[in-house]
Amino acid sequence: MAKQFYIKTFGCQMNVYDSSRIADMLQQKGYTPTVHQNQADLVIFNTCHIREKAAEKLFSDLGRAHLIQLEREEHGLKTIIGVVGCVVQAEDEQIIKRAPFVNFAVGPLMYHKIGQIIDDIEQKSDRQNFIYTDFPAVSKFDFLPENKAQGACSYLAIQEGCNNFCTYCVVPYTRGVEYSRPINDVITEAKRLLATGTLEINLLGQNVNSYHGEDSNGKERNLAYLINKIAELDGIKRLRYTTSYPADMNDDLISCHHNIDILMPYLHLPIQSGSDKILKAMNRRHNSADYLRIVEKLYAANPTVRMSSDFIVGFPGETDADFQATLDIVNRVKYIQAFSFKYSRRPGTPAATMENQVEEKIKKERLDVLQTLLFDYQTKFNKSCIGRTMPVLFEQTGRHKGQLIGRTPYMQNLHITTKRDNMNKIIDVVVTEATTNSLSGKEL
Ligand code: SAH
Ligand code: SF4
Ligand code: F3S
Repeated sequence: MAKQFYIKTFGCQMNVYDSSRIADMLQQKGYTPTVHQNQADLVIFNTCHIREKAAEKLFSDLGRAHLIQLEREEHGLKTIIGVVGCVVQAEDEQIIKRAPFVNFAVGPLMYHKIGQIIDDIEQKSDRQNFIYTDFPAVSKFDFLPENKAQGACSYLAIQEGCNNFCTYCVVPYTRGVEYSRPINDVITEAKRLLATGTLEINLLGQNVNSYHGEDSNGKERNLAYLINKIAELDGIKRLRYTTSYPADMNDDLISCHHNIDILMPYLHLPIQSGSDKILKAMNRRHNSADYLRIVEKLYAANPTVRMSSDFIVGFPGETDADFQATLDIVNRVKYIQAFSFKYSRRPGTPAATMENQVEEKIKKERLDVLQTLLFDYQTKFNKSCIGRTMPVLFEQTGRHKGQLIGRTPYMQNLHITTKRDNMNKIIDVVVTEATTNSLSGKEL
């Protein structure tokens, strides 16, 4: 029987994309995917280091994986356990110290090494740990095998790393400096995804709108140029990009929201805080007025555009007045979706050693207040969709017979019950019901 692999992915969409590339590579080596961890000959955890809780989850999962490894060993079965992703880059040898049964630990820029590492482990009976955490001069994208569509919606990484160094954030340390893939590489990958069933492409980068890949003449091109090129490809029905940094939201890109029909009218543009004092301490290159100006320009380019954001509450030095400024910005922009977090001290980042840390109790209270307000706007927007006809891309089956789940242009989840074969199609649906987290509808 073919060897089986199991991958558990934590963290952001970049990790989801990386996991799919690793899965493609393993399939090329003859492994088949399984959703049952206890049947897997190879178990990989793709980890996130962004907040303390995210990193801690890994070690409880590793404990469980070790028990399975021991149990399988009693039946004469070998289980290779690997850890990849941002925790590896941040903790490298610490992982093997804390979990010596881990066979390999590979940082985000070294995934092209995994194939060779697995061959080495398979051939050796003695236990050896492999750790790879370099920031190589070559791009992993040039060495990973060609990928196929992950379904009707596919992620496509066009940029990796970040030079912004927000004072709370580990990403510049775990993913390294900014790197943009060349235009032609991205177009080739987009064509391949479209040829294998993708209808919607989501261009990914930690700071996607600072994209500056080279074209075939060696000239640097921006994200607006790339979006225009991809929008011309045969078979593309929807296009998105994420995550954008406010200060890099240039006019070219904003005009794409006017000119390009298939660019979805939904933009994730994290502000983090509404207080200019806190934004400065965070080393964000925008203040609240800059941010509101960008939002106004987007609305002027396309009045149907709606926004989502990330927020951090309880950043060091945040007072009640600073927090109120965050609530004020939410009331101005009326985000239709958002992620919000309590500030988490990350070792090695400047904010971790700032003196004026906010008490946990206050962070929690502020998060509750903010989330209540955010959910309120989200629910209001969802309810305002009742009676509207929306094109929905169906990409998942639901729990009940005939139930399908899809996404609206605004990334809302929408369920229908149908006898038709609507999977992997874009269908017009009338919205009949709405809650905070999802919509239901009927086909026209
Ligand atoms: N590149 C993106 C997002 C990176 S991480 C951007 O610049 O917006 C995703 C989100 O996690 C961030 O937007 C931020 O809201 C949150 N985050 C990052 N570091 C954090 C920390 N130390 N504590 C709490 N939340 C954090
Ligand atoms: Fe982190 Fe800031 Fe870079 Fe986003 S822009 S990845 S929050 S350093
Ligand atoms: Fe987490 Fe790394 Fe993404 S820290 S949010 S997996 S870039």
